[in-house]
Amino acid sequence: MFMKIFRYIFLLLFLCRRSLEHSVLKRSIDLIAAHSLVVDSRLPREIAPNSYTIDLHPFPEEGYFKGNVKINLTWHEPMDKITLHVHEDLIIDHSELKVTQYVPDDEKLRSLSAPYEPVEIKVKRSEVIPKQPLYIIHLEKQLKTGTQCVVDMTYSGKLYNDTSEGLFRSHYINTLTGEKQWFVASQLRPNLARKVFPCFDEPAFKANFVVSIVRCNTMKSLSNMPLSKSEELRPNSKWVRDYFEESPPMSTFTFGVLVSDFVSVSVNKTNEDNSGPKINIWATPDFINAVQNTTEKIYTSVRALEKLWDFKFPLPKLDCVALPNYQGTRPADNWGLIFFKESELSGKGSWLITHELVYQWLGALATPFWWSDAHINNALARYVTSYITLQVSDGKETFHNWPMTMLYSIYYEFSKRYPHGKVMAIKQDSSSTKTELLFRMLNYTLGEKTFNSGLQRFMADRQYRTFFGDDVWSSITEQARIDGTLDESITANEIAGSWISKDRLPVLNVIRSSDGTTATITQRVYLRERPHDVPEQEKFLWWIPIVLITQDKLNFSNSFPVKWMKREREVSLSDLPKKDTFIIVNPEEIGPFPVNYDATNWNLLAQFLQSDNRNKIPVNTRAKLLHDAWNLAYAGDLSFSTALDMTLFLKYEREYLAWDPVFTMIDHIGRHIDGSGVHKKFLMYVRMLLTPLYEELGIEAQEGESEGKANLRSSSKVFLCQAGYKPCIEEAQHAFDKWMKAENPDEGNPVANQYICPVFKWGSKEEWEFGLERVINFPPGRKPSERTYLLKTLAGCPIDSWKIEKILNITILEQNGNFTDNDIYLVFSMLTGSSSGYTTLFNYLTKNWNGLKKAFENKPQLWNSLITSSTSVFKTQEGLDMVTKLYKNKQHDFGTADFVITKAIKNIKEEAKWSNDNLPVIENWLQKYLNLEKNVTASEENKFL
Ligand SMILES: *[C@@H]1O[C@H](CO)[C@@H](O)[C@H](O)[C@H]1NC(C)=O
Ligand SMILES: *[C@@H]1O[C@H](CO)[C@@H](O)[C@H](O)[C@H]1NC(C)=O
Ligand SMILES: *[C@@H]1O[C@H](CO)[C@@H](O)[C@H](O)[C@H]1NC(C)=O
Ligand SMILES: *[C@@H]1O[C@H](CO)[C@@H](O)[C@H](O)[C@H]1NC(C)=O
Ligand SMILES: *[C@@H]1O[C@H](CO)[C@@H](O)[C@H](O)[C@H]1NC(C)=O
Repeated sequence: MFMKIFRYIFLLLFLCRRSLEHSVLKRSIDLIAAHSLVVDSRLPREIAPNSYTIDLHPFPEEGYFKGNVKINLTWHEPMDKITLHVHEDLIIDHSELKVTQYVPDDEKLRSLSAPYEPVEIKVKRSEVIPKQPLYIIHLEKQLKTGTQCVVDMTYSGKLYNDTSEGLFRSHYINTLTGEKQWFVASQLRPNLARKVFPCFDEPAFKANFVVSIVRCNTMKSLSNMPLSKSEELRPNSKWVRDYFEESPPMSTFTFGVLVSDFVSVSVNKTNEDNSGPKINIWATPDFINAVQNTTEKIYTSVRALEKLWDFKFPLPKLDCVALPNYQGTRPADNWGLIFFKESELSGKGSWLITHELVYQWLGALATPFWWSDAHINNALARYVTSYITLQVSDGKETFHNWPMTMLYSIYYEFSKRYPHGKVMAIKQDSSSTKTELLFRMLNYTLGEKTFNSGLQRFMADRQYRTFFGDDVWSSITEQARIDGTLDESITANEIAGSWISKDRLPVLNVIRSSDGTTATITQRVYLRERPHDVPEQEKFLWWIPIVLITQDKLNFSNSFPVKWMKREREVSLSDLPKKDTFIIVNPEEIGPFPVNYDATNWNLLAQFLQSDNRNKIPVNTRAKLLHDAWNLAYAGDLSFSTALDMTLFLKYEREYLAWDPVFTMIDHIGRHIDGSGVHKKFLMYVRMLLTPLYEELGIEAQEGESEGKANLRSSSKVFLCQAGYKPCIEEAQHAFDKWMKAENPDEGNPVANQYICPVFKWGSKEEWEFGLERVINFPPGRKPSERTYLLKTLAGCPIDSWKIEKILNITILEQNGNFTDNDIYLVFSMLTGSSSGYTTLFNYLTKNWNGLKKAFENKPQLWNSLITSSTSVFKTQEGLDMVTKLYKNKQHDFGTADFVITKAIKNIKEEAKWSNDNLPVIENWLQKYLNLEKNVTASEENKFL
């Protein structure tokens, strides 16, 4: 865990773009919220609501609201008390509490057609259970099954102003009038309706809503349904009551209101048969222009979703609001009334907007029964969003190269010895990603038609109701049976179950016979991090589709499997082409699993990729072959010489998607062999790959170039700069010079972040020391994150040990008051990023043992961190010897860090074994390559420091 954070910080620094990509999609927060609810106290099921009639009167300036709710209830079992969710911030007026019975509990009376005079049922007492938070109304008698009553409650509540949760208020300044304008909005996900009205706050208790809102006559109000009429509260009053039409059955968390003076643009298009919802976008008068163009996007996505679900938008209208200061981690997806952050609604692309629209069906119309069923809902929503986005943008919007980026991240996560440590957020995140990819796999293997019809079947079945996770798979199975795309013996539930139930992924091993015409395929757990000592791994088995491409028929549009591995360890294939043509299993990453082959097949692939026919294999598959080869080699399951042969085609490859895994490879392998003799050769090789690519791309971005091209340029530049590419270093120094010449350099930093690391790494003593002074003199008024960035790069970038020693002296031994313990942590963690960093730290520790022990005498955390950073990252026999020697010499002197170093030694042993096995192979391959390209190498090397 410790190391993971270090690595993450390090990667963040150098690969900012890549790490950010993931956070943009904000998924885990949503899931965590759902998780905490799995233990929420559940309401009894004897009584259920039919409808809520809600009247709200907010007073935004005063910060509270008044409310009244009439809940129409039916008794499904005899019961003498009514249990409701009421948050402790709601103050119920007990004197106004009334329960009226409208349907008699006597069956005989009920069968009479004569009108029944409503009777009031006496309330014995009411009881608040604040922690739960429940409100229990004890009745004077038990009512029988079939009884209907209305509970009438008057109350008041808080308008929150420090969060965007519950019913909250905020304001904006109207630039025309200069006035402060209040508005009130709501966000009730996942269980905050209880802060706005007494209710049955669980998704499964769906009921009709009849809403009215009292607002000031200069404002407007919106709710889930269209306005039906407005009335002055009293003659000449400034208050007006708006009445809204009755909603279809909905869950409490989808209830929404807005009271504001916002203005709107409407989408003037309707469907051919005039059936579409009336769509409006709302924003402050200042912001409305920024969302003009969004109308088209929303309309297009709604149409595409109606077609996908074969279900018209379920409500008569849809309002999308750009809400100033909205602080929610996700838009508030109330049914028919969605609140976005302003930037989200005016932003580029349509992924995010579509994602919220998807929830109008999957979530609001058909709702997960309980929050534990929500993960499947979220995964499906994300799949559907990607499907729609690809469709409406005609493939132009790539949203982080869906699904490749997230696929690679789960390949890394699930192949660790301990997937996602103990971090719940990572666990939920990767499980959700896996489920999303499972939907993608079923789409390919059953065919898009079957898959989409399966989703329609599901929606038709669950509309206005709730569902369990399994219902989705069942509907897909039923459709597949009808279409004949799945054998009688297979269900989507079983397939999905085998993937969902474990935090692992499989790897396939495909070995062809000597004439090539048959092959054995085996499955096992995919493990990348060593050692592969995961217990009971032989028990893991999956349902795996075998989709096959052969060189003689390069038809990538047929994605039906030739066979399913039905939790079988081994299957065989026959009728394959002869041995001189390759086969590809699992093209286009149809299933989330890597595939290994025999050396002959890999070689055929490597050859083909270097030929002019390379583009007959689509780019995602080219990327997969490359990604699988080097990861399998990294795991110890494939010879590095075969894996490196698979990189040879990169000389001709110009598509970003194929290059994407390469940058990770350079980083991982580079890090692993850093400090060994092979590293220099590896760097030379990397430079020879990247320099021509970068020079061909051109230094400056061209107008209208693709996102991929821009990414390719910036990624290759980062690596070339790190490797000392002269034009890059000069550019960086030039930029840095401006700062050095500034009159008051401590006022601000004019240098773009990308230039700082190359200067600290390759630049002069003066430049580095100038940076150090800026940290020491950093004025309190400036953003602390700028200081942190400087400190990180000052420590993490240099290769000269004197710089590292100097920063250690200043921060630790000289007790310079400008540095905190946190700074020291940061320095340690940054030094684990390169062998020069951790080797210098190790030597520093050995040399200054007593001084350091004394400095950290009362700071065991820092001491442990020092020992971790200085010992645990070594990878070679030499490193192992150094660390072991230190341990022997100071055996009884490690104190709290004793467990750290013993663990470190164990890890280094494992890594050293890897190095012994692989370094000679890598070195051999690189030497051969560099010999062949001797002439080129010399001229390219001149370009580097
Ligand atoms: C309560 O709801 C039921 C079912 O929707 C309806 O038939 C009945 O008229 C409602 N009663 C009142 C008093 O609104
Ligand atoms: C929220 O309201 C309270 C009471 O009206 C006030 O003291 C506080 O400053 C407000 N907070 C914000 C963030 O506006
Ligand atoms: C929709 O129509 C109204 C009135 O006809 C017009 O004012 C508005 O600009 C139109 N909106 C868009 C987005 O074209
Ligand atoms: C809206 O689209 C038009 C035409 O494509 C463009 O000229 C305009 O700048 C866009 N407006 C905004 C606010 O993006
Ligand atoms: C769904 O599968 C079809 C092949 O049946 C494929 O063409 C399409 O791209 C897939 N859609 C997604 C979103 O993966």
